[in-house]
Amino acid sequence: MNHPNRPFVGGNWKMNLRLASAVELAEDVHAALSNQPLAADLDAVVFPPYPYLQAVGRALGHGPPQLGAQDLADHEDGAFTGQVSAGMLDDLDARWVIVGHSERRHGLEEPESVLHRKLVRALTSDLKAVFCVGETLAERESGMAEEVLARQVRSGFSGVDQGLLASVVLAYEPVWAIGTGRTAHPDDASQAHRWIRSTLADLYDAELAAATRVVYGGSVTAANAAELFSRPEIDGGLVGGASLKAETFAAICRAAAARLA
Ligand code: PGA
Repeated sequence: MNHPNRPFVGGNWKMNLRLASAVELAEDVHAALSNQPLAADLDAVVFPPYPYLQAVGRALGHGPPQLGAQDLADHEDGAFTGQVSAGMLDDLDARWVIVGHSERRHGLEEPESVLHRKLVRALTSDLKAVFCVGETLAERESGMAEEVLARQVRSGFSGVDQGLLASVVLAYEPVWAIGTGRTAHPDDASQAHRWIRSTLADLYDAELAAATRVVYGGSVTAANAAELFSRPEIDGGLVGGASLKAETFAAICRAAAARLA
C-alpha cells in the first residue's frame, strides 16, 4: 500500500445529546473543521440520532463534516414499525449510514443475514456505508478473531458488486474496546486490518482490497489517534465518546488528515 487511501473519521453520537446540544455540537464541529486546511482531504462524518438528523444537517450546511445515520431498514418501505428507510435518510440529506455496529450486531442480536441486506440496501440506494465488524473478548482470547472477522466480512459482502466497494468503509471495532477505554494495541489493530483485507482480496482481488478503506474504532481519543493512524493499514477511525466534544473530534480528524502529509 504505497499511496494512502482518503482518510475517514466518523463521529457516532449514539443515543446521546438532546436537540439543542446536538445542534450546538454540529455548529462547533463545523467551525472547528472549517478552520482546518486539511479538512477537504478527508471524509469527516457525524452520525446523530435519527430525530436530530434534519436539524443537525441544517446546522452543518454543506459541511464539513458530512451527515450520516446510525442505521437503516433492510426493506424499502412498508409495515416496519419504528424503522427508517434509505429513502427517508436521503430526504434528510444523510449521505452515509452505519451498518452492523456492535451495539446492534451483538447488543440487539441483529443477524448477519439482516446486516448483509442492510448493506446492499444502503449501497443500492446511493448511500455510503460504514460496515462494522469485530470480535468479542472471548473470541479474541480463544484465538478466533481472524476467523470471526473473515466470517463477518464474507457474510456482509458476498454477492456485493465490486463497483459498489468505493462507497464502503469497513470499521474494525473489537467489541471489547468499544466504550471501555481499552483501545486495541496498534499492532493488533493493524493485524486485524490485514485479515479483513485478505478476506476482501479473496472475495474480490488484492488491488480492490488495498483501495478499500478500513478504519479502527474502539476508545479512539485525541491522545491515541495519531499512533493508530500512523499505521499504513489504518485509514482513520470510527469514534464514539470522543466525538461528543468538537475539539477532540477535530483533533482526531487532524491526526487522520496527517496521513496524507
Ligand atoms: P467509543 O465507541 O469510541 O466510545 O469506544 C466507538 C464506536 O462505538 O464506534
